[in-house]
Amino acid sequence: MDNLLEIKNLTVEYKNNSTNSVIKAVNDVSLTIKRGETYALAGESGCGKSTLSKAITKLVETCDGDILFEGKSIFSQSKEDEKHYPLDVQMVFQNPYSSLNPKMKIGEILKEPLDINTDYTKTRKKAAVREILESVGLTEDVIDKYPHEFSGGQRQRIAIARALILNPKLLIADEPVSALDASIQAQIINLLKTLKKERNLTILFISHDLNVIRYIADRVGVMYFGNLVEENDTTSIFNFPREDYTKKLLASAPVLKTK
Ligand SMILES: Nc1ncnc2c1ncn2[C@@H]1O[C@H](COP(=O)(O)OP(=O)(O)O)[C@@H](O)[C@H]1O
Ligand SMILES: [Mg+2]
Repeated sequence: MDNLLEIKNLTVEYKNNSTNSVIKAVNDVSLTIKRGETYALAGESGCGKSTLSKAITKLVETCDGDILFEGKSIFSQSKEDEKHYPLDVQMVFQNPYSSLNPKMKIGEILKEPLDINTDYTKTRKKAAVREILESVGLTEDVIDKYPHEFSGGQRQRIAIARALILNPKLLIADEPVSALDASIQAQIINLLKTLKKERNLTILFISHDLNVIRYIADRVGVMYFGNLVEENDTTSIFNFPREDYTKKLLASAPVLKTK
């Protein structure tokens, strides 16, 4: 497996101008995500997981370090790469409601990325929408409905469909099931596992919930106060944690939900 994403000594700081203080949200983190794997970032709330993902998608400014996508720095891209990169790296978030425009019908929500980024014919766009709906387990009749007409789990399916419609290489899922009931969580996780296989996806899966991570991840990185304190394949992290913090995190995780 080759490397899709390499993060090298990444540091991200937030400056608070009114108090003149600086928060080091990500501190000298290096990690590599291989093509085709699901890499999970674990750690308690506030440890810097979302900030790291925002650095990858250039939503926050990087203070130090480098991020390579397919071997090339994302901070010195050619015009062509600059155009493609935001399409190659797509995100889904904890709350799909906030990422779906409430005034748009699902059909429009899904078609929009195609309108903006492709010169597909009307027929081809329709086919692409149908195809992606099917692969996230929704039927075609959803296209004339609005986001509020759906449950949280269905909305997350729609958000995933929108993120995948242009066939990105990397999907960043930031706490994608944290707002859902346990039974629905399992459905969405299974969907992501299937989509990964079917579409040859690479996933950066972010969660504070180790149970969820155990089920979906190939490898796990554990963050603590901005630092990556431990990294290993999923089985080893859970069975043979090396760092005290990882052990503490595992001990505090609730037993696997059976509901
Ligand atoms: N926009 C921001 N401005 C200032 N501080 C921030 C901002 N976003 C996050 N932080 C701080 O950075 C740290 C890491 O936050 P975050 O990356 O959201 O962690 P996580 O996703 O692991 O919960 C926290 O201390 C948080 O309060
Ligand atoms: Mg977060």
